Amino acid sequence: MLEVKNLVFHPLENGLEKSIIEDVSFTVEDGEMLVITGPNGGGKSTLAKLMMGIETPDEGSIFMDGEDISHYRIDERANAGIGFAFQQPPRFKGMTVRRLLSLAAGCELPENKCCDYLSGVGLCAREYLDREVDNTLSGGEMKRLEIATVLAKPHKICIFDEPEAGIDLWSFSMLVKQFEQLHADKKESLILISHQERIIQMADRIMVVKDGKIEALDTKEKVLPGLMNEDIGCVCMNASHKA
Ligand SMILES: Nc1ncnc2c1ncn2[C@@H]1O[C@H](COP(=O)(O)OP(=O)(O)OP(=O)(O)O)[C@@H](O)[C@H]1O
Ligand SMILES: [Mg+2]
Repeated sequence: MLEVKNLVFHPLENGLEKSIIEDVSFTVEDGEMLVITGPNGGGKSTLAKLMMGIETPDEGSIFMDGEDISHYRIDERANAGIGFAFQQPPRFKGMTVRRLLSLAAGCELPENKCCDYLSGVGLCAREYLDREVDNTLSGGEMKRLEIATVLAKPHKICIFDEPEAGIDLWSFSMLVKQFEQLHADKKESLILISHQERIIQMADRIMVVKDGKIEALDTKEKVLPGLMNEDIGCVCMNASHKA
């Protein structure tokens, strides 16, 4: 179980404190899928980065299975079982897709395993294995590759920041199947940050983050009707289609 307690993040901007995350607390149960949604600039990615140790909170703590991991570095959190896929994946010039997958898996992956992970996100291994992870890959290719690297290793909890961004409809359907399978296996907890109705529909619970605060956090059945009725603002794609 992941437990986030009273996180506060007030970075300095031009010498002035900016309030980005305000006293946010929530838990993610084992095997649960929590979907975080909310308006642009609400603080979702920042919250994810605070969980992964990419940003450092001013206050608050994070526990995994009862252990305080607040002081852990990024690599220590990864070793403790947190997987992370960025909203905008970083590129690694000079590194091949094959090498990146092996690094992500933590062992030298045989070619057939690399192929499995790539085909799981709709990428043809023959075309991609020896390509460099540089800016010759399109945005959608990078997103799918990054998701494959997270899927290449078992985790306790995986955080995917807008996995749908820039992905074509066919590949998106494959990703949805991957998430459904991970969720059905119940071996990993999932945090999906998304504006996509089809992903939001998969959630056990939905958390709406707005202005750095939790605007709503409850079961899908309780939160979704509010999203559809736009009580919480225009936060999800297709929100105009009433349930
Ligand atoms: N280190 C920082 N210093 C100053 N401002 C920051 C910093 N990190 C994030 N912000 C600001 O915090 C706000 C929240 O950003 P964040 O990326 O978390 O939003 P988001 O909810 O993920 O939005 P989106 O849906 O567009 O991805 C934004 O206004 C952003 O510019
Ligand atoms: Mg974001």
